[in-house]
Amino acid sequence: MSQTPELVVKDLHVSVEGKEILKGLSLEIAKGEIHAIMGPNGSGKSTFANTLMGHPKYEVTSGEILFRGESILEMETDERARAGLFMAFQYPVAIPGLTFASFLRAAINARIAPTAGEDGKMPTKKGIAPKEFRKLMLEQMAVLKMDEKFATRYLNDGFSGGEKKRAEILQMALLKPTIAIMDETDSGLDIDALRIVSEGVNTLSGPDLGVLVITHYNRILNYIKPHKVHVMINGRIELSGGPELALELESKGYDWVREEVDAR
Ligand SMILES: Nc1ncnc2c1ncn2[C@@H]1O[C@H](COP(=O)(O)OP(=O)(O)O)[C@@H](O)[C@H]1O
Ligand SMILES: [Mg+2]
Repeated sequence: MSQTPELVVKDLHVSVEGKEILKGLSLEIAKGEIHAIMGPNGSGKSTFANTLMGHPKYEVTSGEILFRGESILEMETDERARAGLFMAFQYPVAIPGLTFASFLRAAINARIAPTAGEDGKMPTKKGIAPKEFRKLMLEQMAVLKMDEKFATRYLNDGFSGGEKKRAEILQMALLKPTIAIMDETDSGLDIDALRIVSEGVNTLSGPDLGVLVITHYNRILNYIKPHKVHVMINGRIELSGGPELALELESKGYDWVREEVDAR
């Protein structure tokens, strides 16, 4: 494959509150590929995920992020999402009174919504019709083997860890991103939730989707087979390899990577 990767990160430096966290991170992800970033706690994995989505707290001091050939550094989070970058909602809030289905429909409408015209006015476009949305949602729920009742639940209100993950995956299925970023920071990710995420990613992955799974658990990689595994140490990707690298990290930990880096 000689296509240009959809996501190209070049020598990225990022500071949080004046402290440099990412120190020259480079990475390329093409559609159809599953990548995993692994690394010890505090190495900057979540900083990278948040930077990709344009969290205002994360300041890019140098380097570049190209998505489909264009810099996204000046783009707001919602523009990035509309362009086809997806990040599972990290801090899902419970919104009693808003059903999950309504939330999803709003999310789709935001994704397909045109931006304001030069006069600053929004075009009068109604978005996806309720009936059409329902059909689409039920189709995807069937693909993901989800209970239809799930859609009528209130958003995250009393969702278990596994149900939150289910919600994330369904959102991803409906939004059809080009690149999906999943930061599995959740220390409460039990085996059920892990399985849901993995099955979802495996079901949805294909030639049109690139996936970046960020994790400090090796165990998710027992369920998702990444094409490439990257090791992040102290704000940089220091080592990349195939799926066998995940196994090596599982048995040997991270110290040997650190020693190799120090010896360079
Ligand atoms: N929002 C933030 N405010 C302050 N410090 C942060 C913030 N996000 C990350 N950091 C700091 O950046 C470093 C890397 O953290 P993080 O990106 O969460 O690592 P990882 O996800 O690999 O565990 C840590 O030292 C952390 O304290
Ligand atoms: Mg993290």
